[in-house]
Amino acid sequence: MSPPESVRVEVDGVGLNVALRGPEGAPAVVFLHGFPLSHRMWEPQMRTLEARWRIVAPDLRGMGGSDVGDGQYAIDLYADDLFAVLDHLGLADVVACGLSMGGYVLLRALEREPGRFRAAVLADTRSTADDDEARLKRVAAVRALKRKGAETYARQFVEIVLGRTTLAERPELVDWVRATIAAADVLGLSGAQLAMAARTDTTDVLAGLDIPVLVVVGKEDELTPRDLAGDMADALPDGRLAVIPRAGHLSNLENPEAFDRALVRFLEEVAPPPLAGPGAQR
Ligand code: MLT
Repeated sequence: MSPPESVRVEVDGVGLNVALRGPEGAPAVVFLHGFPLSHRMWEPQMRTLEARWRIVAPDLRGMGGSDVGDGQYAIDLYADDLFAVLDHLGLADVVACGLSMGGYVLLRALEREPGRFRAAVLADTRSTADDDEARLKRVAAVRALKRKGAETYARQFVEIVLGRTTLAERPELVDWVRATIAAADVLGLSGAQLAMAARTDTTDVLAGLDIPVLVVVGKEDELTPRDLAGDMADALPDGRLAVIPRAGHLSNLENPEAFDRALVRFLEEVAPPPLAGPGAQR
């Protein structure tokens, strides 16, 4: 196991914190976190993969250890940041895994520069844009964030984002998610909400993706439910679907064992490490 490392990548004066793990030169897996979290949501997956894959996990601007900058964001700006991180690290032909908002960024990156990716994992996300109701909710959320702060927002958000099993049985995870959101920067979160409100529909992109794509969804996810994930998997030329039991919208954190089983099986197929090292999960 490699010690945790990180690198700072500057994009137009905004410093992006990028966590790195695993052997350099091993097939790279890039993790894009969901709103309003950070690369730390991928800790279980980093632990599972780090013996055999190179892990790259940036904090999106405005969240985690990345700078907030001016708070004016767009999904395309996050995609530009992703490209800058890949260029800085000299990485091509990566597998990328995006959860929810990370999935929105990944879908747009796949649409714009598909040649950078050899495979993708789309977890608890959707290709459709916001409808009018969803946009108005985001504007209300921005107003509430500015008036009441991130702590009040965090209390409400955990009830929506986590599955019923987690809410009933995993108080430590509920507390961690709540505390992480409460500590986040209001300007960063507001900018992310407005970027998501303005995102484009990438549904038509799915049929043209000629790479393997694993679609993952928590069985108890009410934000991006199973049927939606099934539709995405069906629209992909080489799509597969993994439904994670006892998990809501943060399926990788709520049931890491099941999530990692699906992820490792997929990575073994699409980006196998040259040699299995100690602790390899075959
Ligand atoms: C996320 O988990 O990234 C967000 O809930 C996505 C969204 O608000 O659409």
